[in-house]
Amino acid sequence: MKIGDKNLIKQALEAREKSYSPYSHFRVGAAILTEDGKLYTGCNIENAAFSPTNCAERTAIFKAVSDGKQKFVKIAIVGGKEGETIDYCPPCGVCRQVLREFVNPQQFQVILAKSETEYKVYTLSQLLPEDFGPNNI
Ligand code: THU
Repeated sequence: MKIGDKNLIKQALEAREKSYSPYSHFRVGAAILTEDGKLYTGCNIENAAFSPTNCAERTAIFKAVSDGKQKFVKIAIVGGKEGETIDYCPPCGVCRQVLREFVNPQQFQVILAKSETEYKVYTLSQLLPEDFGPNNI
């Protein structure tokens, strides 16, 4: 089955329901699509010591990589303060860099969504210009 943008956003919204964010009350969900058509979701997971907190995007990509997947097509991200309307939630710099490790930044798409019908699509290279990747080392 072909997974379209709307479906990916729906999965990210469902993943957001699992967010563990008792400190920031900022709930994030992500869903990443592999080249072979598999989908991995993630939510943000906070920690009392703060710095061990993991973003939704990294949860999703780490789940995929640990399952043997390293080729990706696109990711959908949804996030916002608990109880408030969802606004666009651009990925943090660390997550952009982690995505960069595994994708062609000119082709990989980052979908920032408010809902299944209201969303914007960027390439990773738009969000991470002049990047440092595997070819630089
Ligand atoms: N967060 C994400 O999950 N993804 C992002 O790209 C931005 C930030 C999380 C981390 C933390 O749990 C909360 O949002 C507030 O920063």
